Amino acid sequence: MAPRPILIDTDPGQDDAVAILLALAARDTLDVLGLTCVAGNVPLEKTALNARRICDLAGRPDLPVCAGCDRPMGRALVTAEHVHGQSGLDGPDLPAPQMPLHPAHAVDFLIDTLRAYPPGTVTLIALGPLTNLATAFGRAPDITGRLREIVLMGGAQAALGNVTPVAEFNIHVDPTAADIVLRAGVPVVMVPLDVTHKALVTPARNAALRALGTPVGHAVADLTGFFERYNPVRYGAEGAPLHDPCTIAWLLRPDLFASRHVNVTVETQSDLTLGMTVMDWWGISDRAPNTTVLHDIDADGFFDLLTERLATL
Ligand code: BDR
Ligand code: CA
Repeated sequence: MAPRPILIDTDPGQDDAVAILLALAARDTLDVLGLTCVAGNVPLEKTALNARRICDLAGRPDLPVCAGCDRPMGRALVTAEHVHGQSGLDGPDLPAPQMPLHPAHAVDFLIDTLRAYPPGTVTLIALGPLTNLATAFGRAPDITGRLREIVLMGGAQAALGNVTPVAEFNIHVDPTAADIVLRAGVPVVMVPLDVTHKALVTPARNAALRALGTPVGHAVADLTGFFERYNPVRYGAEGAPLHDPCTIAWLLRPDLFASRHVNVTVETQSDLTLGMTVMDWWGISDRAPNTTVLHDIDADGFFDLLTERLATL
């Protein structure tokens, strides 16, 4: 079977970087058509720089990397340097990128790429705030019908929030965009904190990545090692949640996850609960299911997959 074409919208971010590397390490299964960058963990200038540092590390300077929206829809940008460091990619000592930025705006690149592929073939992976996607859907409504599906890291149910008591970062930064994407009629797979907080980089898992002994293995161990310092303090967990790579792992090994098709609606108004993803787990409302929500993961299987795949880069 031909590799599945995917576009990755991202705000790197250490965990975004690992997700990108995992996708690039799966060339037999995934055909990465390009990376589109958005403001999120750090401002756009840095996310566009970091995405190229990762492509260089993976030996893929040929990939189109585009810069997109520099702020959420109708509100100020919230960033997360307290988690990711000032660069967004603190940890390893990665050089400045050699590869150039693609000249197209990310939104134009998304629209043009989706129109160039047969309908129902391209999967969109969203690892940051959904601003680029929602802007593209607004400008070119025809592209929603051309997507195979969207797999997004974002939201929370029982895990509750990581940026407010009830909201996850990617959704909270641009709830208007998330609302547009969830209402677009495209099949959505959501990877919320409920799953990613079970994908913890323990010291043993970090050591296995470092033991690969390759530049990629060392970089990923340093990336996840840096990320590690924040979450155990906050959540009392035995390691940092590796959020974004769960999206790629789901494409490669859906059998590692459990899911449920439910209605998800985003709170866009309330100051108290802005960006909360309200999941109708028991079908209590009359809102039709619109999202496949992942809720469990075989974490050992996930880290085995990650380590095996990264060994090939
Ligand atoms: C999400 O927010 C970012 O900090 C991470 O890169 C991930 O995409 C987790 O809430
Ligand atoms: Ca991210």
